[in-house]
Amino acid sequence: MASNRYYDSGEQRAARVRDLFDTIASRYDLINDLQSFGLHRHWKRRLLQLAEARPGQRALDLCCGTGDVTRALAQRGVETVGLDFSQPMLAVANARTKARSLGAAIQFLRGDAQQIPFPDNRFDLVTISYGLRNLADWQLGLREMQRVTRPGGRILVLDFGKPDNAIWRGIYFAYLRRFVPILGRIFCGDADTHGYILESLLHYAAQKGVAAKMEELGLTRVRVVNLTGGIMSINYGEKPL
Ligand SMILES: C[S@@+](CC[C@H](N)C(=O)[O-])C[C@H]1O[C@@H](n2cnc3c(N)ncnc32)[C@H](O)[C@@H]1O
Repeated sequence: MASNRYYDSGEQRAARVRDLFDTIASRYDLINDLQSFGLHRHWKRRLLQLAEARPGQRALDLCCGTGDVTRALAQRGVETVGLDFSQPMLAVANARTKARSLGAAIQFLRGDAQQIPFPDNRFDLVTISYGLRNLADWQLGLREMQRVTRPGGRILVLDFGKPDNAIWRGIYFAYLRRFVPILGRIFCGDADTHGYILESLLHYAAQKGVAAKMEELGLTRVRVVNLTGGIMSINYGEKPL
Protein backbone atom coordinates (compact mmCIF):
# COMPACT_ATOMS: atom_id res chain seq x y z
CA MET A 1 0.00 0.00 0.00
CA ALA A 2 1.33 3.43 -0.88
CA SER A 3 2.37 5.37 2.20
CA ASN A 4 0.36 8.47 2.98
CA ARG A 5 2.18 11.04 5.07
CA TYR A 6 -1.04 11.98 6.88
CA TYR A 7 -2.10 8.50 7.93
CA ASP A 8 0.45 8.33 10.71
CA SER A 9 0.41 8.04 14.47
CA GLY A 10 -0.71 10.99 16.56
CA GLU A 11 2.93 11.74 17.46
CA GLN A 12 3.99 11.81 13.81
CA ARG A 13 1.08 14.05 12.90
CA ALA A 14 1.97 16.39 15.79
CA ALA A 15 5.57 16.65 14.53
CA ARG A 16 4.28 17.42 11.06
CA VAL A 17 1.91 20.04 12.47
CA ARG A 18 4.81 21.76 14.25
CA ASP A 19 6.86 21.83 11.03
CA LEU A 20 3.84 23.14 9.16
CA PHE A 21 3.21 26.07 11.51
CA ASP A 22 6.93 26.89 11.77
CA THR A 23 6.95 27.16 7.97
CA ILE A 24 3.75 29.13 7.36
CA ALA A 25 3.81 31.45 10.41
CA SER A 26 4.22 34.68 8.42
CA ARG A 27 1.36 33.70 6.03
CA TYR A 28 -0.92 32.04 8.59
CA ASP A 29 -3.31 34.96 9.12
CA LEU A 30 -3.71 35.58 5.39
CA ILE A 31 -4.41 31.90 4.67
CA ASN A 32 -6.82 31.78 7.58
CA ASP A 33 -8.78 34.74 6.19
CA LEU A 34 -8.82 33.30 2.67
CA GLN A 35 -9.83 29.76 3.47
CA SER A 36 -12.57 30.78 5.93
CA PHE A 37 -13.69 33.84 3.87
CA GLY A 38 -12.89 35.85 7.02
CA LEU A 39 -15.46 33.89 9.03
CA HIS A 40 -12.91 32.74 11.61
CA ARG A 41 -13.16 36.23 13.11
CA HIS A 42 -16.89 35.78 13.63
CA TRP A 43 -16.40 32.29 15.12
CA LYS A 44 -13.74 33.64 17.52
CA ARG A 45 -16.05 36.48 18.56
CA ARG A 46 -18.67 33.86 19.47
CA LEU A 47 -16.08 32.07 21.60
CA LEU A 48 -15.29 35.33 23.39
CA GLN A 49 -18.99 36.01 24.04
CA LEU A 50 -19.40 32.60 25.65
CA ALA A 51 -16.21 33.07 27.68
CA GLU A 52 -17.72 36.11 29.47
CA ALA A 53 -14.23 37.20 30.48
CA ARG A 54 -14.09 39.89 33.17
CA PRO A 55 -11.32 42.31 34.16
CA GLY A 56 -9.04 40.90 36.82
CA GLN A 57 -9.48 37.28 35.72
CA ARG A 58 -6.64 35.05 34.59
CA ALA A 59 -6.85 33.25 31.24
CA LEU A 60 -4.79 30.74 29.32
CA ASP A 61 -5.14 30.57 25.53
CA LEU A 62 -3.65 27.29 24.34
CA CYS A 63 -2.27 26.77 20.83
CA CYS A 64 -2.51 30.55 20.59
CA GLY A 65 -0.78 30.81 17.20
CA THR A 66 -0.54 34.45 16.17
CA GLY A 67 -2.61 35.41 19.20
CA ASP A 68 -6.04 36.62 17.97
CA VAL A 69 -7.93 35.20 20.95
CA THR A 70 -5.11 35.94 23.41
CA ARG A 71 -5.16 39.63 22.53
CA ALA A 72 -8.96 39.82 22.58
CA LEU A 73 -8.98 38.42 26.11
CA ALA A 74 -6.31 40.90 27.24
CA GLN A 75 -8.35 43.71 25.66
CA ARG A 76 -11.14 42.72 28.06
CA GLY A 77 -8.82 43.37 31.01
CA VAL A 78 -7.93 39.72 31.57
CA GLU A 79 -4.39 38.79 32.55
CA THR A 80 -3.65 36.40 29.68
CA VAL A 81 -1.03 33.82 28.73
CA GLY A 82 -0.83 32.53 25.15
CA LEU A 83 0.92 29.18 24.87
CA ASP A 84 2.16 27.57 21.64
CA PHE A 85 4.95 25.18 20.68
CA SER A 86 5.87 27.02 17.46
CA GLN A 87 8.45 29.76 18.00
CA PRO A 88 7.77 31.38 14.59
CA MET A 89 4.02 31.59 15.37
CA LEU A 90 4.87 33.17 18.76
CA ALA A 91 7.21 35.65 17.04
CA VAL A 92 4.30 36.83 14.85
CA ALA A 93 2.04 36.96 17.94
CA ASN A 94 4.55 39.14 19.79
CA ALA A 95 5.09 41.46 16.81
CA ARG A 96 1.35 41.93 16.31
CA THR A 97 0.81 42.55 20.03
CA LYS A 98 3.50 45.24 20.39
CA ALA A 99 1.53 47.55 18.14
CA ARG A 100 -1.60 47.44 20.36
CA SER A 101 -2.35 48.96 23.71
CA LEU A 102 -4.04 46.25 25.71
CA GLY A 103 -6.10 46.44 28.86
CA ALA A 104 -4.14 43.85 30.83
CA ALA A 105 -0.89 41.96 30.98
CA ILE A 106 -0.27 39.55 28.13
CA GLN A 107 2.49 37.01 27.84
CA PHE A 108 3.36 34.56 25.07
CA LEU A 109 5.04 31.38 26.17
CA ARG A 110 6.53 28.46 24.30
CA GLY A 111 5.21 25.13 25.55
CA ASP A 112 3.23 21.99 24.88
CA ALA A 113 -0.52 22.04 25.42
CA GLN A 114 -0.31 18.41 26.51
CA GLN A 115 2.03 19.32 29.37
CA ILE A 116 0.90 22.74 30.46
CA PRO A 117 3.66 24.43 32.49
CA PHE A 118 1.32 25.79 35.20
CA PRO A 119 0.07 24.43 38.53
CA ASP A 120 -3.42 23.06 39.11
CA ASN A 121 -6.42 25.43 39.44
CA ARG A 122 -4.53 28.44 38.12
CA PHE A 123 -6.87 30.00 35.53
CA ASP A 124 -10.43 31.34 35.51
CA LEU A 125 -10.67 30.64 31.82
CA VAL A 126 -8.88 28.22 29.48
CA THR A 127 -9.46 28.49 25.72
CA ILE A 128 -8.16 26.61 22.70
CA SER A 129 -9.01 27.58 19.11
CA TYR A 130 -8.18 25.31 16.23
CA GLY A 131 -5.67 23.51 18.43
CA LEU A 132 -7.24 20.52 20.18
CA ARG A 133 -7.68 18.66 16.87
CA ASN A 134 -3.95 19.01 16.20
CA LEU A 135 -2.72 17.44 19.41
CA ALA A 136 -1.18 13.97 19.35
CA ASP A 137 -3.62 13.10 22.16
CA TRP A 138 -6.58 15.52 22.33
CA GLN A 139 -8.03 13.75 25.38
CA LEU A 140 -4.81 14.40 27.27
CA GLY A 141 -5.04 18.03 26.14
CA LEU A 142 -8.55 18.27 27.58
CA ARG A 143 -7.44 16.71 30.88
CA GLU A 144 -4.65 19.28 31.09
CA MET A 145 -7.13 22.09 30.44
CA GLN A 146 -9.31 20.79 33.25
CA ARG A 147 -6.31 20.49 35.60
CA VAL A 148 -5.21 24.12 35.25
CA THR A 149 -8.75 25.56 35.41
CA ARG A 150 -9.86 26.70 38.86
CA PRO A 151 -13.06 25.24 40.35
CA GLY A 152 -15.90 27.27 38.85
CA GLY A 153 -13.73 28.25 35.88
CA ARG A 154 -14.63 27.81 32.20
CA ILE A 155 -13.17 25.72 29.41
CA LEU A 156 -13.89 26.56 25.78
CA VAL A 157 -12.83 24.66 22.68
CA LEU A 158 -13.35 26.16 19.21
CA ASP A 159 -12.56 23.88 16.30
CA PHE A 160 -13.68 22.38 13.03
CA GLY A 161 -16.77 20.25 13.51
CA LYS A 162 -18.57 17.41 11.79
CA PRO A 163 -22.05 18.53 10.68
CA ASP A 164 -24.92 16.08 11.25
CA ASN A 165 -26.51 16.92 7.90
CA ALA A 166 -24.97 14.50 5.38
CA ILE A 167 -25.31 16.82 2.37
CA TRP A 168 -23.77 19.80 4.15
CA ARG A 169 -21.02 17.56 5.53
CA GLY A 170 -20.29 16.26 2.00
CA ILE A 171 -20.01 19.80 0.58
CA TYR A 172 -17.80 20.91 3.44
CA PHE A 173 -15.49 17.87 3.28
CA ALA A 174 -15.21 18.34 -0.51
CA TYR A 175 -14.23 21.97 0.11
CA LEU A 176 -11.53 20.89 2.57
CA ARG A 177 -10.32 18.12 0.25
CA ARG A 178 -10.23 20.14 -2.99
CA PHE A 179 -10.11 23.89 -2.39
CA VAL A 180 -7.92 24.19 0.70
CA PRO A 181 -4.96 22.30 -0.86
CA ILE A 182 -5.14 24.72 -3.81
CA LEU A 183 -4.69 27.62 -1.38
CA GLY A 184 -1.74 25.75 0.13
CA ARG A 185 -0.18 25.39 -3.31
CA ILE A 186 -0.68 29.06 -4.18
CA PHE A 187 0.43 30.60 -0.89
CA CYS A 188 2.92 28.05 0.41
CA GLY A 189 4.05 26.31 -2.78
CA ASP A 190 2.84 23.03 -1.31
CA ALA A 191 -0.58 21.45 -1.85
CA ASP A 192 -0.19 19.33 1.29
CA THR A 193 -0.08 22.46 3.39
CA HIS A 194 -3.48 22.77 4.99
CA GLY A 195 -4.56 19.55 3.31
CA TYR A 196 -3.87 18.26 6.82
CA ILE A 197 -7.10 19.92 8.05
CA LEU A 198 -9.34 17.23 6.63
CA GLU A 199 -6.98 14.48 7.76
CA SER A 200 -6.76 15.86 11.31
CA LEU A 201 -10.55 16.21 11.39
CA LEU A 202 -11.02 12.58 10.43
CA HIS A 203 -8.84 11.61 13.41
CA TYR A 204 -10.75 13.90 15.76
CA ALA A 205 -13.91 13.15 17.72
CA ALA A 206 -15.22 16.70 17.00
CA GLN A 207 -18.05 18.39 18.92
CA LYS A 208 -19.91 15.28 20.08
CA GLY A 209 -16.80 13.37 21.17
CA VAL A 210 -15.36 16.39 22.96
CA ALA A 211 -18.66 16.95 24.80
CA ALA A 212 -18.71 13.29 25.86
CA LYS A 213 -15.13 13.57 27.14
CA MET A 214 -15.99 16.78 29.02
CA GLU A 215 -18.85 14.92 30.74
CA GLU A 216 -16.54 12.01 31.53
CA LEU A 217 -14.05 14.42 33.12
CA GLY A 218 -16.82 15.66 35.38
CA LEU A 219 -17.22 19.13 33.88
CA THR A 220 -20.60 20.75 34.43
CA ARG A 221 -22.93 22.79 32.18
CA VAL A 222 -21.38 21.00 29.22
CA ARG A 223 -22.80 22.18 25.92
CA VAL A 224 -22.07 22.36 22.22
CA VAL A 225 -22.63 25.51 20.20
CA ASN A 226 -22.71 24.65 16.50
CA LEU A 227 -21.64 27.39 14.12
CA THR A 228 -22.46 27.64 10.40
CA GLY A 229 -24.43 24.40 10.40
CA GLY A 230 -21.88 22.56 12.51
CA ILE A 231 -18.83 22.99 10.27
CA MET A 232 -17.37 24.80 13.30
CA SER A 233 -18.30 24.30 16.91
CA ILE A 234 -17.59 25.50 20.39
CA ASN A 235 -17.50 23.05 23.28
CA TYR A 236 -18.17 24.65 26.65
CA GLY A 237 -17.79 23.23 30.14
CA GLU A 238 -17.16 24.39 33.70
CA LYS A 239 -15.01 22.80 36.37
CA PRO A 240 -17.24 21.99 39.34
CA LEU A 241 -16.82 23.98 42.54
C1 LIG B 1 -4.47 26.34 13.47
S1 LIG B 1 -3.35 27.16 14.54
C2 LIG B 1 -4.47 28.06 15.57
C3 LIG B 1 -3.92 29.36 16.04
C4 LIG B 1 -4.89 30.25 16.79
N1 LIG B 1 -5.38 29.64 18.00
C5 LIG B 1 -6.05 30.65 15.91
O1 LIG B 1 -7.17 30.25 16.21
O2 LIG B 1 -5.84 31.37 14.93
C6 LIG B 1 -2.84 25.84 15.60
C7 LIG B 1 -1.72 26.23 16.54
O3 LIG B 1 -1.54 25.17 17.48
C8 LIG B 1 -0.17 25.04 17.76
N2 LIG B 1 0.02 23.71 18.35
C9 LIG B 1 -0.27 22.52 17.79
N3 LIG B 1 0.01 21.52 18.65
C10 LIG B 1 0.48 22.10 19.79
C11 LIG B 1 0.92 21.60 21.05
N4 LIG B 1 0.96 20.29 21.31
N5 LIG B 1 1.29 22.47 22.00
C12 LIG B 1 1.27 23.81 21.74
N6 LIG B 1 0.89 24.34 20.56
C13 LIG B 1 0.49 23.50 19.60
C14 LIG B 1 0.51 25.29 16.41
O4 LIG B 1 1.85 25.65 16.55
C15 LIG B 1 -0.36 26.43 15.85
O5 LIG B 1 0.15 27.68 16.19
